[in-house]
Parts: sequence; structure tokens; C-alpha cells
Amino acid sequence: MANKRVLLAGGRVIDPLAGKVRIWDVLIENGKIVKLGKGLKAKQAQRIDCRRKHIAPGFIDMHCHLREPGHEDAETIATGTKAALAGGFTRVCPMPNTDPPVDSEAQVRFQLCRAEEAGFARVHPIGCCTRARAGKELAEIGAMKKAGAVAVSDDGAWIADPRVMRRVLDYSKAFDIPVISHCELAGLDYGVANEGLVSTRLGLRAGPDVSEAAAAARDILLAEFVGARIHIAHVSCATTVDIIRWAKARGIQVTAEASPHHFTLTDEALAGFDTNYKVNPPLRTEKDRQAVIRGLADGTIDAIATDHAPHTKSEKEVEFDNAPPGMIGFETAFGLGYEQLVLTGDMRLPDYINRMTVAPARILGLPVPRIEPGANAELVILDLKAQWTYTPEQVMSRSHNSPFFGRQFQGRVVGGFLGGEQFWLLHPA
Ligand code: DOR
Repeated sequence: MANKRVLLAGGRVIDPLAGKVRIWDVLIENGKIVKLGKGLKAKQAQRIDCRRKHIAPGFIDMHCHLREPGHEDAETIATGTKAALAGGFTRVCPMPNTDPPVDSEAQVRFQLCRAEEAGFARVHPIGCCTRARAGKELAEIGAMKKAGAVAVSDDGAWIADPRVMRRVLDYSKAFDIPVISHCELAGLDYGVANEGLVSTRLGLRAGPDVSEAAAAARDILLAEFVGARIHIAHVSCATTVDIIRWAKARGIQVTAEASPHHFTLTDEALAGFDTNYKVNPPLRTEKDRQAVIRGLADGTIDAIATDHAPHTKSEKEVEFDNAPPGMIGFETAFGLGYEQLVLTGDMRLPDYINRMTVAPARILGLPVPRIEPGANAELVILDLKAQWTYTPEQVMSRSHNSPFFGRQFQGRVVGGFLGGEQFWLLHPA
């Protein structure tokens, strides 16, 4: 397979760095892009007709949960990275809230080994900020970075003690690794729904949006004080967007991400008490959803991250209050973003792709993905006209906790390359 020549003919190649789309043929040889041009002839090359298709760099998901070690009944690194490829993600960054948590060099190495054995999407682990995510003692930040961790986070938990957070920022600055903060103010947690009219009507235990915004404000100010980098995870409300916008204008080294469910859904979706809509932070109001979209459009929110959070059927089939938060997201992310951001006219296609590729790469210090001669062939083929319905039968993830089954999508990842391998051509023209 490695010596194969492949010609992707006549596709619209998206350059998310330059913000351009151009019609090119792309010649791939030995896993590398060797030529870009019009009317390329290549002897003995497999020709893939890409007319009416778009070609983009492989997506990078900087926030997901692969559940290995400890919860392999919900997902493994192999099943998760296969689902990631199906959604167009050639690189994914699993959060360390596994069992045991990824808080040591050995745990980072374990995840990297498992990913290599699986051979699907590449994995860049995120290590814990503190041992066992307990918010007390620092984890082995330097050793984890050396082993391949690209960021540190206690995702799912906020570091309540400001002295500990200050130390985390100090060390992360010294080791030049970003800190990703799950912002949920101690003593004012998210509850199971956004505090407001909908939660009152449904009688759900709720938490206010200020929980996220106030936690983000503290961490941003601490990062400014220390001179460290801070990244705000899964931004869900308007106030947090405003705070990040203010902080960027002030020159603080802050970046942020938003998840497709937060720019697609609102708390109105909870009316049927379907636990697949239960996420942390919770779905919020239409005003918040619009603010997240504006934040993505003007660059206040740098990246889109799935927060793919697999949970088994038995875990989710309980009362709303007791269900774990989270939904799977790899395979629906591209379609949701295309629908909610591009088809609505809020963002241009290359800028949307930028949020899925260039932005996470820059935040994490990964090579910025390019489609140009000399680059590794790491790309996805997209059919933006494809209409499709998401069904449980298509799911590659081990878990099926998605609220999107039966939904009509427009825009689909139809294939792609990672290194020398054509990793799939799911839906040939
Ligand atoms: O919805 C979520 N699920 N949010 C988190 O912060 C954690 C995640 C999980 O691990 O399931």
C-alpha cells in the first residue's frame, strides 16, 4: 500500500491557513503529497474522481474521551480512534479522566502504545494537571510532556484552590504546555441543566451560567499574572465569550474551544428528558448559542472540539439526575458545524475548517496541517451536497449515546488519507 500512487482529481482544495479554496489535482506517492496542479497526469496511479468534492487537511479534535484505561465497555482507544477517522479526525486528544487517570509518564506512554497498535487516528494524550485530578498535588507535568502529552487538564473537575492553579500555571509555563480549564466554579456546579426558565418548568436541578464564566475569569486572570497560557474548554455561554474577548484584547494568552452540541442545541431539547442531551457544561439558551457562534465567527473562540464522551446504554438509561453527562460526537461534528456555521452564512468554509485544523494544531504545538507538495498525505474528502440520515447502525464508536439519530445532515466526510494508507472511502461517488 505504501508505494501506491493516488491521484485525487479535480477536487476543491481548502487551504484553511490562507482562507482559500482552489480546484486542484492532488498527487500522492509513498504517503506524501508530491504535486498539486491542474490536469495532472500520473501513470499507474489510482484515480479518485473528486469533482464535486472538497479536500481539507485531516481534522484535529483537541478534546475527547476515549475511556481507556478503565472504562473499555464504553470505548477503547481502538474503537474511538476508528470512529474519529470516520468523522474526519486524523488526530485526537483524549482527556485524562480515565481510570486510573493519566497523571504520569507511564500512562501517557500506555495510551500512545495502544493508539499505535490500533493504527487508526493518531493520539496526542492530555495529561492531568494534578494527581488523580484531585486538585491538590501537581501531576508529573514535565515528564508527561516529554512522553508526548500536548496539554494538561483536570477536565471534568475545576481546580478550586487558587494556589494549586497558580502552581499548575507556573509549571506549565516552564514546560511550555497549555493548561486546559474545565470551568465550573466550586460550590456553584453545573447541576443537570442550565438554570433558567426551562429548568424551572421541567423541575431539573440546575446550575447557573455564572459558574462557568466566573471560573473562566479567575483562571484567565491567574494566567495573566503568571504569564502562562490558558485554554478554556467547551465554552457554553455568552458571558464566557465576552470574558475571553476582553482577555484577548488585553493581550492575555488565552484560547478557547466550543463543541458542536453547544452551537447546535439549547436547553429546550431537554423537554423529553432524553439523557443523551445531558452534557457538562449543560445546553444553554438561544442567546448563549448565538454568542458561541459569534465567538467562533470572530475568532474569540479559536477551535471546535467534539467533547466526544461515550457512555454505555445502562449508564444512560437512568433518571435524568443520575445519568452521566456527555454525548458521542466524532461522527456528527463536521455535519453539525457545516449546517450551523457555514450554511447559515455565519462563517466561510475555509474559516470553519481552520477551527477544526489550524487552530487546534497551533494551540497544542502540533504541525500545522497543509495540503502542499512535501507534506504528508493527511487529508479528508468531503461531499458538501450529500444528504444523509444518522442511524445507530453507522456508529463506529462502542457507545451509542447520541441525541442525533434520525436527524438529516448535509455535508459528509466521504474518505481520506493518513500517511500512505487510504484510510477509507466510505461513500464513493
Ligand atoms: O459532558 C461531559 N462529559 N463533560 C465533561 O466535562 C466530562 C465528559 C465525560 O467524561 O463524560
